[in-house]
Amino acid sequence: MNQKYAELTAYTPGEQPLGVKYIKLNTNESPYPPSPDVLVSIGYGELSDLRLYSDPDCRGLRKALGEFYSRETDEVFVSNGSDDILNFAFMAFSEKGVVFPDITYGFYEVYAKLHGANYEKKPLCDDFTIKTEDYLEENGKLIVIANPNAPTGIFKPLCEIERILKANPDSVVLVDEAYIDFGGESALKLLNSYKNLLVVRTYSKSRSLAGARLGFAFADKEIIADLNKLKFSTNPYSINRLTLIAGEAALRNGKYYDDNAQKIIETRTYVTAKLREMGFEVIESAANFVLAGHEAISGSDFASEMKKRGILIRHFSGGRLEKYNRITIGTRAEMDAFLFATEKIIKK
Ligand SMILES: Cc1ncc(COP(=O)(O)O)c(C=O)c1O
Repeated sequence: MNQKYAELTAYTPGEQPLGVKYIKLNTNESPYPPSPDVLVSIGYGELSDLRLYSDPDCRGLRKALGEFYSRETDEVFVSNGSDDILNFAFMAFSEKGVVFPDITYGFYEVYAKLHGANYEKKPLCDDFTIKTEDYLEENGKLIVIANPNAPTGIFKPLCEIERILKANPDSVVLVDEAYIDFGGESALKLLNSYKNLLVVRTYSKSRSLAGARLGFAFADKEIIADLNKLKFSTNPYSINRLTLIAGEAALRNGKYYDDNAQKIIETRTYVTAKLREMGFEVIESAANFVLAGHEAISGSDFASEMKKRGILIRHFSGGRLEKYNRITIGTRAEMDAFLFATEKIIKK
């Protein structure tokens, strides 16, 4: 292997079990199926057309996303999952360095290393919030903020994001909104005022299409053109034909997804209260997961006890997250099974 990649530590994705049937609360997928239009959008004709390449410009999907979110088509970028978009953003805008919180989506550090960027991880405050003042003198560096943050689930108010945008006009400020449909307010409304804002979204969470691999982003058309240059220099057909069709179909069922997000929010409130009743510390979440820990059991023991009972949750070992687990919010029935198992484990 090329020596410059030899030291790389690759990202470790959450477990995707084969064979054994688990209740999967470990990778923040939706517990609900894709919407009706998506389910009927792919038939024999679409499968037969797989002999043809997909549209490298993704014109239909980008136009539909533009209309859905009230942006111009050339302000929309799409690629193979938001991970792919993050990768291009780190490749494109990290020349002067990158900053992101020390506790956030683990892939940011992997991309920073992959692209040889100088990067700084800014410690979160004691209450796990992001300190705005730490991000006001980064001009020129790529600034990456997941909002709501993962795995804390904490939402950072838009006025704070705006302070960061304003203070760093020569930086690209990437706001990763993978979980925005479960709480908080999107930075999309700041796009007209800030040419340095890049908002990254995904179909993997609220739109129930994690397996289709589809991410999208909005920014000033110059930023979008830069991302496209890199995509067309890597793999112009990064989105397959079936995913393009599914992505457009999903946009016709907005209410279905809004209703599902609402159900997840209600279940999150229920689970948070129940866990607190059992003595857990639960961080107030605006996402489709909660971060929770208990004094009576270590985070890793709790996760392995859960696994023995057929439930997968996500533990991040080391540092301040050691005592916690990130628990994806599933259906009410799945969460009742999780809470039942939790009670047994805690009493043991
Ligand atoms: C904060 C954050 N950003 C991006 C992603 C990647 O999502 P995608 O499935 O669109 O690649 C995840 C996945 O868990 C995430 O937690």
